[in-house]
Amino acid sequence: MGFTSLFSLLLVVVTGTLAEHAFDNTTTHLDAYIEANRRHHNAILQDYENRMEIFETNYNESLKTIDIQLEFLVNAIRVNEEALNTLELLNELNKECVNKYKPSLPEEEVTKALVQSCSYSAYKRLPSLEEDLMETRMNLKDYYARTFETDVTLCDNEACVTNVVSKANSFTATNQKTFATQMDTATCLGKGSLKTALDCSFTAQSNALSLLASTKTLIDRCSQKADCKPGGYCEHVEKISSHMVNYTKPMVDNPFYGKNETSSCLLWQIY
Ligand SMILES: *[C@@H]1O[C@H](CO)[C@@H](O)[C@H](O)[C@H]1NC(C)=O
Ligand SMILES: *[C@@H]1O[C@H](CO)[C@@H](O)[C@H](O)[C@H]1NC(C)=O
Ligand SMILES: *[C@@H]1O[C@H](CO)[C@@H](O)[C@H](O)[C@H]1NC(C)=O
Ligand SMILES: *[C@@H]1O[C@H](CO)[C@@H](O)[C@H](O)[C@H]1NC(C)=O
Repeated sequence: MGFTSLFSLLLVVVTGTLAEHAFDNTTTHLDAYIEANRRHHNAILQDYENRMEIFETNYNESLKTIDIQLEFLVNAIRVNEEALNTLELLNELNKECVNKYKPSLPEEEVTKALVQSCSYSAYKRLPSLEEDLMETRMNLKDYYARTFETDVTLCDNEACVTNVVSKANSFTATNQKTFATQMDTATCLGKGSLKTALDCSFTAQSNALSLLASTKTLIDRCSQKADCKPGGYCEHVEKISSHMVNYTKPMVDNPFYGKNETSSCLLWQIY
């Protein structure tokens, strides 16, 4: 501390805080300058926070679409269940058909757990996506709190303060560049992680939906006696992979291959 500061400090003791700066232009000027820099520093740290918050919000909002889709799916499963319950009451054949195929319907709890596991793993990835950003922010905060504050206390003239501020500005600029690069990386990795989650949920949901649809078809055919087997339902259900479906190929694998008997009907269930 220089003589002027010491002098004003003594005056503060004597005359109170309000008088402090009235007697010392330089100190007032420098204090205000340092204070302005502190505000600037806080604004930069706040800007980092805001940008991370926006990143998180976007990420979370995208994941919420999975929950919304799941609600529709759960609703479809319930509506179907109710329809089947009503159908069962109509007559014995219906009851027989429903009971026969009910076990292959997608279960609400299982489907829910499957879909939710997709978004859960994406939520779990969020902290690791932001890890580097947090560290960069912490580095800058530490620099302001330790290096800047220590250095500025040691100054007793304007040139020294200017130098400390200039060093801080340079550190800030480098840190901001790092932060921006890391934000780009996080955004990119975040997109990948979201895509994985949406794909995972899409697969789980479309499996459940197609199971729902195919089971419904089986029950409908069975209860309308509209199966190829007269008066009943088709016993011979062959599951074939959707990979085998190819509209441009004139032939498919022989479903009777390796079997020693032919049944009177054949139902293909494509999965
Ligand atoms: C204090 O600063 C003002 C302008 O900011 C100037 O006009 C004035 O002469 C200064 N007084 C002293 C004591 O340096
Ligand atoms: C995003 O979701 C995570 C995990 O549920 C939560 O911890 C975080 O506070 C959420 N962030 C925002 C901005 O909503
Ligand atoms: C469908 O069959 C055609 C002709 O055999 C073949 O060129 C094509 O790759 C097949 N597509 C798929 C998706 O398997
Ligand atoms: C067909 O094979 C099964 C065993 O795989 C056998 O039990 C059955 O008797 C055979 N049917 C005829 C008609 O040969």
